[in-house]
Amino acid sequence: MPTFTGDEALSYDKRIGKLVPGYELLHHTTAAQLSVILEKEATLLVVGAGTGKEVIELAKLNAHWRFIAQDVSADMLSIADQNFTNLGLNDRVTIHHGPLEDVTYQADAALCILVMHFVKDDGGKAALLKQISTNLRPNGYLFLADLMLPDTSFERAAQLQYCQTELGLSEAGAKTMRSNFQETFYPVDNARLTELAHQAGFGSPTSYFKALGFSAYTIAKLP
Ligand SMILES: C[S@@+](CC[C@H](N)C(=O)[O-])C[C@H]1O[C@@H](n2cnc3c(N)ncnc32)[C@H](O)[C@@H]1O
Repeated sequence: MPTFTGDEALSYDKRIGKLVPGYELLHHTTAAQLSVILEKEATLLVVGAGTGKEVIELAKLNAHWRFIAQDVSADMLSIADQNFTNLGLNDRVTIHHGPLEDVTYQADAALCILVMHFVKDDGGKAALLKQISTNLRPNGYLFLADLMLPDTSFERAAQLQYCQTELGLSEAGAKTMRSNFQETFYPVDNARLTELAHQAGFGSPTSYFKALGFSAYTIAKLP
């Protein structure tokens, strides 16, 4: 997995829009759904919060929502913390550095955007989903976005081309992404995602976003 430390953390905000087709749309369509399903007062658990993108977008939609911003990278969270300070959001955000423990929070919704594809399917993905499930209230929704296994033999090539021609990814960046596809991502298909979701106490995922290899799903925690 990329380390998301040091320079990788500092350059993240400039890089990510060149690597994920529809990055802004993914966040905006996630936010639109949360704004219609959540009450005025709600707590949102953001797993892999990175530099704070989800919190920053969602905080604009509702001034009462509170957030738990969790990540395993202290450097990403430090940038997020600075962003929250600049935007006057600190008193609405709890920063959680390190893995989630079981049943620490009772969130009304959870987000795990562009995170789980870095976790191996060797018990790691199952453990992460279980930790999210135990920190989410029954019937609460998880919004999950990941690089998935390709649907066609040409999807990955098209994605690399799109990132270069439309998003401004450099030749060197495309080369790194090509090798990352093999070495640092652990994508699954829909059937495996459904199996993992069921094992963690969720219903079946419902797709709401797909841009080449990246897909997003709403996944309800069962009562
Ligand atoms: C591609 S960034 C996504 C950040 C943010 N969600 C966004 O959409 O911009 C992935 C983030 O997930 C974090 N991460 C990786 N594995 C994780 C894990 N097992 N639990 C929590 N965070 C993790 C990384 O440190 C990094 O900040």
